[in-house]
Amino acid sequence: MATIAVIGTGYVGLTTGACFAHLGHDVICADIDPDKVARLQAGEIPIVEAGLERIVEEALRDNRIQFVLGATEASRRAEFHYLCVPTPQGDDGAADLTYLEAAAAEIGPVLPADSVVVNKSTVPVGSTRVVARVLGRSDVSVVSNPEFLREGTAVDDFLNPDRVVIGSDDQEAAIRVAALYQKVPAPIMVTDPVSAETIKYASNAFLATKLSFVNAIATLCEKVGADVNDVVLGMGYDTRIGKQFLKPGPGWGGSCFPKDTIALARIAEDAGYDFSFLRQVLAVNDEQFDRTAEKVIAAMGPDGVVGAWGLTFKAGTDDLRMSPAIEVLKRVVAAGGRVRAYDPAVHKALDELPEVEVVQDPYAAVEGAEVLAVLTEWDEFRWLDFDKVSENMAGRAVVDGRNLLDRALLTRRGFTYRGIGR
Ligand code: UGA
Repeated sequence: MATIAVIGTGYVGLTTGACFAHLGHDVICADIDPDKVARLQAGEIPIVEAGLERIVEEALRDNRIQFVLGATEASRRAEFHYLCVPTPQGDDGAADLTYLEAAAAEIGPVLPADSVVVNKSTVPVGSTRVVARVLGRSDVSVVSNPEFLREGTAVDDFLNPDRVVIGSDDQEAAIRVAALYQKVPAPIMVTDPVSAETIKYASNAFLATKLSFVNAIATLCEKVGADVNDVVLGMGYDTRIGKQFLKPGPGWGGSCFPKDTIALARIAEDAGYDFSFLRQVLAVNDEQFDRTAEKVIAAMGPDGVVGAWGLTFKAGTDDLRMSPAIEVLKRVVAAGGRVRAYDPAVHKALDELPEVEVVQDPYAAVEGAEVLAVLTEWDEFRWLDFDKVSENMAGRAVVDGRNLLDRALLTRRGFTYRGIGR
């Protein structure tokens, strides 16, 4: 078993560290925030992530994980060094490598000989070489090992992935990284670093394309009178298309898809290829926010009171970054809507949209509302008491941005139901 330093304890770093410890490795996780380090060492998990708390607790108990302040402290004792720092979107659309370069500069002088530095952060094509240059160590190899973790199911995605991708010019280092995943039941693919980095961006951009395509088909379904739920079911039986990632919605979001799709368009542009197709994928997504908001605005009465269910970018997470729900509500608020919102994972006002009143009860959210907007696919919304919802609401309009609720049941209770693409 290996000793692995993980630099950065965001959702990727924390999941990576905890899962490697779960697989039996010795893991040292480093962060620059002393408060966060102390909390993690006490077993307090700052994010909502299924199963994470349990495996961190187990690893702490078995002394297979520790949390330390600063990358130096972790890296001077490890054989593998996973860089899991943020790569936010820079002003020009490209990913900002400040944190990555700073981490590499910090650990370069303390790395034990023959260590392997692994890029897990989503970084522009060519970054593996940038890290190698900043490290300035000819005895240390740099490998790309992109993450394909979905928030909310990240632990399961790590332990049961569809594939593990390793990009390296150094075959021996690639084999050493592959060995870390010995207990993971998945194909391990070894390629060069540039290809590995491209696989990550191409995968996210392809999935985003799939969703924009489905949302465009949903719009078409509304125009021609088809039901998109049946259309995607019929498409998904074709194994070349597949059933997953075909759910229409209010638009797609999160901390990865928008950032990575924009970044890939930028990477292409810098490389001399105008990837205009990707810009269209992004434009269709903006249109989807607009169209969903227009449905809510059209159903608002004179008082403009809107009850919203769902604020996070998808169910199973408390993450609000680039949330389609917030994009839609921004438009509703701009059109004069007065929004009260409920989300099971959100317990305070929204920094980005303070005009929205956040309440802690789904029935309170619809009090006096002329329209109910469902914007995140939390399963619990399906099982609420719609007689009570009806009593609380002033109007009877429902805009179901996730095609989540039972249309027949709502129609029977006198609601006017509008979904997406049906
Ligand atoms: C995404 C990828 O799915 C991961 O493979 C990748 O590792 C990760 O980004 C990353 O780059 O770190 P995540 O951002 O957690 O994961 O979110 P997804 O589950 O992919 O959902 C993204 C958006 O698409 C959400 O707004 C979601 O509601 C929407 N979506 C997803 C749909 O509208 N319909 C679907 O059928 C699926």
